[in-house]
Amino acid sequence: MSRLLTPTLTLTALSLLFTAVTATTTPAVQVNVLYSFGEDSWAENLAVRANGQILVSRLDTPEVLQLDPTGAREPITVAAWDANNYMGCLGISETRADVFYVVASGFVNDSFVLTSGVNTIWEIDMRTFAIEDDQASSGVTVTSNATVTKLVEVTSSDFLNGMTTFNETVILVADAYNGWVYAVDTTTGAYTVAVNETSMKFDSIVDPSTNLGVNGIKLHDGYLYWTNTAAGTLNRILLSDSHDDAVVGPLGPAETVVSNVPKADDFIFKSDGVAFIAQNQMDELSVLYPRAGHAEVIAGSNISTLLAGVSAGKFGRLESDAEILYLTTSGALGLPINGSVTVPATLSWINTSSF
Ligand SMILES: *[C@@H]1O[C@H](CO)[C@@H](O)[C@H](O)[C@H]1NC(C)=O
Ligand SMILES: *[C@@H]1O[C@H](CO)[C@@H](O)[C@H](O)[C@H]1NC(C)=O
Ligand SMILES: *[C@@H]1O[C@H](CO)[C@@H](O)[C@H](O)[C@H]1NC(C)=O
Ligand SMILES: *[C@@H]1O[C@H](CO)[C@@H](O)[C@H](O)[C@H]1NC(C)=O
Ligand SMILES: *[C@@H]1O[C@H](CO)[C@@H](O)[C@H](O)[C@H]1NC(C)=O
Ligand SMILES: *[C@@H]1O[C@H](CO)[C@@H](O)[C@H](O)[C@H]1NC(C)=O
Ligand SMILES: *[C@@H]1O[C@H](CO)[C@@H](O)[C@H](O)[C@H]1NC(C)=O
Repeated sequence: MSRLLTPTLTLTALSLLFTAVTATTTPAVQVNVLYSFGEDSWAENLAVRANGQILVSRLDTPEVLQLDPTGAREPITVAAWDANNYMGCLGISETRADVFYVVASGFVNDSFVLTSGVNTIWEIDMRTFAIEDDQASSGVTVTSNATVTKLVEVTSSDFLNGMTTFNETVILVADAYNGWVYAVDTTTGAYTVAVNETSMKFDSIVDPSTNLGVNGIKLHDGYLYWTNTAAGTLNRILLSDSHDDAVVGPLGPAETVVSNVPKADDFIFKSDGVAFIAQNQMDELSVLYPRAGHAEVIAGSNISTLLAGVSAGKFGRLESDAEILYLTTSGALGLPINGSVTVPATLSWINTSSF
């Protein structure tokens, strides 16, 4: 695994090497590469631990890695599954402190139809995870592994993708092909289709360019928000209260928030409500201010490798990186730039303090 990774450099050194400024609309933002995962890799999603360490899921291989936000350490494999059983990992989300859930995906074909395997949700309990830095070799040793346990096989699903936390015991998981969202009880493994809206379907538009509908999902101000990749939209619906005993479900009609985010993948809200939307196959990152009618591209373009195949974003959780948005990129493996250009996947970051 580690042979695929470029030698670890410090954050500063990497910033100098990879710093670039976008030529798009103001305010242009500087994109910095923290880690590069090597050719033909795909960083798909991420979650940030309370201690600031970043968990990255890979789609090209079923693995979850821990990366240090300062770039000081080599990536550490936290969980890995047999690549004969799973194609890769996707959505990842924390419920109780330092307990995460991740999608391990069966195999889908180019139409995103499941052809073999079973989509499975795994629990990664980081409370048992411990490492020791070896000053001499500047390497790192895992002295105690994370506890990785199968939660449930979601047999009715086709292509599970984005995940978010509903409350301490329930996660929500998007099925991008079927166009619905599951609620999964992490204490029992029981799951139900909780939200199943027309605007979650890839074929809710005429001549969809991809079979991916609902992709990223997040809760914000009581609403479930989601991107529809084929439609290029961000949508929302009022959701039942997460502290209620009622079943998880919508409390009103779905609405489209913006429709100018082509190929929207995952997205994230900053604490002030500003959203950052990753547009994987457009190689762009857009910003959406609350109550704005449209999103604005702030970095990348579909003829640039700056944010090649940007797939998801999460904010840092330390005082020092609370304004830093970490971004996974897939190197444009999903849709090569200009038809042929792919680059190594990365964990990149931008400073969002001016947004
Ligand atoms: C994917 O599999 C489905 C079901 O077998 C099939 O209809 C579809 O044509 C396949 N797509 C590709 C690109 O092979
Ligand atoms: C952690 O898990 C790996 C893979 O199963 C194993 O090789 C290693 O010995 C484990 N480490 C510890 C400290 O138990
Ligand atoms: C989802 O909604 C569609 C109608 O849009 C319906 O045909 C289908 O049965 C629903 N599926 C589930 C699992 O609720
Ligand atoms: C989480 O939500 C479910 C469904 O609404 C509810 O049954 C459960 O009690 C909630 N859990 C907590 C810890 O609030
Ligand atoms: C893509 O093509 C455009 C137009 O020819 C060119 O300006 C740009 O540099 C190309 N991008 C890459 C990453 O090769
Ligand atoms: C880039 O995206 C625009 C749509 O915004 C499209 O017209 C153009 O063909 C795309 N270019 C490439 C090289 O993919
Ligand atoms: C982010 O940018 C602000 C404003 O330029 C600066 O004060 C802050 O130090 C930057 N944060 C990081 C972590 O680089």
